[in-house]
Amino acid sequence: MTTTPSLIDRPEAMFQLVRARQQRGARVGVIPTMGALHEGHLSLVEASNRACDVTIVTIFVNPAQFGPQEDFQKYPRTLESDLEALAKFKVDAVFTPRNEDMYPPGYSTYVDPPRVAQPWEGEHRPGHFRGVATVVLKLFQLCPADVAFFGAKDYQQTLVVRRMVEDLTVPSRIEIIPTLREADGLAMSSRNRYLTPPQRKQALTLSRSLELAAQMVAGGERASHRILAAMHAEFAAAGITDIDYVAIADPDTLAAIDEIRSPVVALIAARVGETRLIDNRLLTP
Ligand code: PAJ
Repeated sequence: MTTTPSLIDRPEAMFQLVRARQQRGARVGVIPTMGALHEGHLSLVEASNRACDVTIVTIFVNPAQFGPQEDFQKYPRTLESDLEALAKFKVDAVFTPRNEDMYPPGYSTYVDPPRVAQPWEGEHRPGHFRGVATVVLKLFQLCPADVAFFGAKDYQQTLVVRRMVEDLTVPSRIEIIPTLREADGLAMSSRNRYLTPPQRKQALTLSRSLELAAQMVAGGERASHRILAAMHAEFAAAGITDIDYVAIADPDTLAAIDEIRSPVVALIAARVGETRLIDNRLLTP
């Protein structure tokens, strides 16, 4: 069965729909996205369908989280096929707010994101998490869902959102869904569609080097520097030279870890051609 979900672009209409359903006792789930939906996004929709009575998907390419040199203009906007993909699920509404409603003239208030926003992505994409935290808080105001679903693919983002929600006493509960991957291991991403076939092969280096790291830890390696060296060697062999970071960090604070004594997270950001990809994996000794 497929039913095209109803589109809502007016903020008041979104708020009223959520409140009306909640008053009737429904549990409302929201999945914030920037569109260009793939199966990774859809796995969040599925999780909401399982846990909630009403599922809202938001689609908004948030200018505030893109740097001046980044791909805001060319970010894929594929509303029609997004709606087709969502029709296969139970989606009660798709919220597509307009830029002018989210950031009207004179807009000047931003969330100062938590400390966990500072390293890694924070260093390489200054202002990114300020934009993410701001738009996520605004989406929570307009769509005050009981549960909000985020993907582990954007690991640092999940920590930023969790901390912000706690610090700013946002009542929505945050659920994190595991990263969905292609059969060969590549983490699904809206940006994968930028990759040429040879770049698509190179892009496998991210998941492959994370697999290598996991195997080294499983095999008893405890020194981060040796794991990081092995990961960097994978990138060099694949001809990927534009690496923002390859890191082994505390899974809560994201502080770099030298000696692995408890679970850590390995984080990668690298450019394959012009396309910036990220991936991560928990490593458990
Ligand atoms: P976007 O990149 O569209 O991702 C929307 C949600 O889908 C995020 O929570 C992201 O982690 C999740 N996601 C993406 N790829 C995934 C995969 N392969 N497996 C599982 N989940 C995946 O992240 C954003 O948008 C924006 O920053 C947003 C939170 C919407 C704020 O603008």
